Amino acid sequence: MSLIENIIRSDIRALAAYHVPDASGFVKLDAMENPYILPDALRVELAQHLANVAMNRYPVPSYATLKAKICATLGVPAGFDVVLGNGSDELIAMLSVACAKPGAKVLAPLPGFVMYAMSAKFAGLEFVGVPLNQDFTLDKVAMLSAIAQHTPAITYLAYPNNPTGNLFDADDMVDIIRAVGDRGIVIVDEAYQPFAQASFMPRLAEFDNLVVMRTVSKLGLAGIRLGYMAASAALLVEFDKVRPPYNVNVLTQAAAEFVLDHVDVLDAQASQLRAERTKLYAAMSALQDLDVFPSAANFVLIRVRENHNGGKTADEVFSRLLEQKVLTKNVGKMHPLLENCLRITVSTPQENALFLDALTKSLAS
Ligand SMILES: Cc1ncc(COP(=O)(O)O)c(C=O)c1O
Repeated sequence: MSLIENIIRSDIRALAAYHVPDASGFVKLDAMENPYILPDALRVELAQHLANVAMNRYPVPSYATLKAKICATLGVPAGFDVVLGNGSDELIAMLSVACAKPGAKVLAPLPGFVMYAMSAKFAGLEFVGVPLNQDFTLDKVAMLSAIAQHTPAITYLAYPNNPTGNLFDADDMVDIIRAVGDRGIVIVDEAYQPFAQASFMPRLAEFDNLVVMRTVSKLGLAGIRLGYMAASAALLVEFDKVRPPYNVNVLTQAAAEFVLDHVDVLDAQASQLRAERTKLYAAMSALQDLDVFPSAANFVLIRVRENHNGGKTADEVFSRLLEQKVLTKNVGKMHPLLENCLRITVSTPQENALFLDALTKSLAS
């Protein structure tokens, strides 16, 4: 056996690394980023703020000031606190590690965010995926039956869901949270909450097993890598034990504290993107040969109808968009329910117009 075979787990060797395509020179509509930056005056102020950060020191691992600011500005209910992560990706990893009892399972609807299954696998947990209905609503009967069969330690519900963009029915979610009961936790992943304006955060006190997870990534700060999760104190104490003590670096901490003092700027950007989403949805719906799915997120899922008269397949449309320097996400192979689907990030009016023009050309025979 080679060194690699001797030391690396066979399931890890069998995996491909998470691939992020080089987007330089492209209109980048593949990663649900906020296209807007901070106004110039704020950026100058931020630079001064960051210049005063003690980079020679470790962060203070309680992150008390940042956590208090997140709770105060981002709608965490009184009496609840948060645990911070290097992006919500790290929070998902922490949850997996904390709950990885032998034989423990993770459950989520599919198609869903890929890191739920990946993180489960890394931590040695079995992942159970439950297909959504054709219209991407929750198959509540199948979910409840899978919960009864597998007793998952962790159930993820992304609200809105990625990559479909829809909000699941809140009453169905409550039934799932209740069915899981005290044998598991339910993570309501609200990564796209700024664009949905619907949340389980105010309902934390209703459910002992509810964790509401969010990120500042989609709000306009993807580069600083900061996620947070709110839950009962009893749960947070345990999750915090598997958190690397200095997981949020001092520059992220300082930048987040500064920007949260100006959260109205980010809120205005989110509101602008919601308006752009409505326009983009309408414009794409007017195109022939496309199904456009309703979205409560900052992206829209579309399906290129198959075998339309002389038209292109989704793969061809994706490639033709690439040729025109527009990068979208081809999700068609991710799950059978996503066949012929592309996911498009909502961007500025200029980039959306460029995309629509390129899309129209790509669909033409
Ligand atoms: C549903 C969902 N949750 C979490 C994340 C990860 O976000 P972060 O940038 O905080 O790691 C994403 C990223 O795309 C996502 O789609």
